[in-house]
Amino acid sequence: MEPFDLVLRGGKVCTAADVFAADIGVRDGVIAALGRGLPAGRRELDVAGKLVLPGGIDSHCHVEQLSSFGVLCADDFHSATVSAAFGGTTTIIPFAAQHRGQSLRQVVRDYHQAAGPKAIVDYAFHLIVSDPSEQVLGQELPALIADGYTSFKVYMTYERLRLDDSQMLDVLALARRQGALVMVHAENHDMIRWLTAKLLETGRRLPKFHAVAHARVTEAEATNRAIRLAELLDVPLLLVHVSAAEAAAEIRAAQGRGLRIYGETCPQYLFLTAADLDREGLAGAMFCCSPPPRDQAAQAAIWRGLANGTFQVFSSDHAPYRFDASGKLPKGEATTFKDMANGLPGLELRLPLLFSEGVRQGRLELTQFVALGATNHARLYGLYPRKGTIAIGSDADLAIWDTDKRVTVRWAELHDKVGYTPYEGRELVGWPTTVLSRGRFVVAGGQLLASPGSGRFLPCAKPDPARPSGRLPTELAGLVDGDDRPLF
Ligand code: URP
Ligand code: ZN
Ligand code: ZN
Repeated sequence: MEPFDLVLRGGKVCTAADVFAADIGVRDGVIAALGRGLPAGRRELDVAGKLVLPGGIDSHCHVEQLSSFGVLCADDFHSATVSAAFGGTTTIIPFAAQHRGQSLRQVVRDYHQAAGPKAIVDYAFHLIVSDPSEQVLGQELPALIADGYTSFKVYMTYERLRLDDSQMLDVLALARRQGALVMVHAENHDMIRWLTAKLLETGRRLPKFHAVAHARVTEAEATNRAIRLAELLDVPLLLVHVSAAEAAAEIRAAQGRGLRIYGETCPQYLFLTAADLDREGLAGAMFCCSPPPRDQAAQAAIWRGLANGTFQVFSSDHAPYRFDASGKLPKGEATTFKDMANGLPGLELRLPLLFSEGVRQGRLELTQFVALGATNHARLYGLYPRKGTIAIGSDADLAIWDTDKRVTVRWAELHDKVGYTPYEGRELVGWPTTVLSRGRFVVAGGQLLASPGSGRFLPCAKPDPARPSGRLPTELAGLVDGDDRPLF
């Protein structure tokens, strides 16, 4: 037997199920052996006293994406993947975003062209469907799903992206027939539009009014409606970037009714509040995302949801915009809360924040941290067990964590191009110091070791959690699935 290319020796290995002492033998980029006292490899890495975790998976990030307002993200596929890697994330799943009138197939081609030469870690794509035309639903989506794009996001708000309920049903029915997973941005568009108009009419323009316009009930109502639409057709659904306690309660209640409803939340809903939008001048724009951060009670509810299984995935929703006219402030000093680009950076700090405040503070078990940061993303999006775990046959995507390393967050030491971090000055304990992707060292000793274009595209399988549960009444089955079954 050929020697291992690499042996990681003496570490504490953690998966979503277990924590155990083991050496890891890597051959051809894949985990070839797990055990104590493995034979010497061509290269040895002493990880005694360190935690060895699966590389993180960030399944919600926007990279080189043009927003519906026409604003381009600050990070390209190089800076985004470098930033991810320095934060212990070895797979990203950004969006190939369709704007109305565009062919989804062409959109996917364009994103590949952007990512291929630049990415340093592996990546898959979700689709954003903003124009569910007959061509898209009948031909493009089924073909793209077969090619490995098995999840797509739809929006219930944003004028140029949103679907109405009947379009949502069309997309959900297609996902059901094709075994794909729908992700939904759930906020009530008309409530937000009405509140926004009233606020602006009365001269309330500052960033803090973004949180007023995107009131908690707007999120709760749309969350409930999205769940009911999915329930009607017996289709699994993932609610993304959940911020409000009331929305989390809707998800929990649906799960309690036995529905396959999944939830995602993000760092901004644990570490920021609406008060952050109320900073001097327009500085609050740096904390503006949709849905917005809420209050301390909501933060506590989101922590509870992570611990009790309401949320399966913890993602960054990295939507990087600079604090200048290219991003947050398109109209300079005249920018109102309605004009500001929505979104926050988070690819690099997602896991260190969750580790420090979740695991170190005793809110989460280590196994939960791994599940929320890596394993569940792979399961939900059809990448498991190639990604998201430490097992024989899985890609050797590994993050070696120094659990005692103290870091004061400074944007100047991060690797994105955003120009600021909402978490500046925060003290964190625990950091991934060495990161491997398919057995290659991508980060070690504070240095980037991977070259642009060394990341690979990952086609996704149809995810198991996207299977219908079999609860569709027989009288609806033929209608929904488009076959000839008699109605009664
Ligand atoms: O404010 C946010 N979340 N911006 C990014 C786009 C989205 O809706 O996820
Ligand atoms: Zn969204
Ligand atoms: Zn997003």
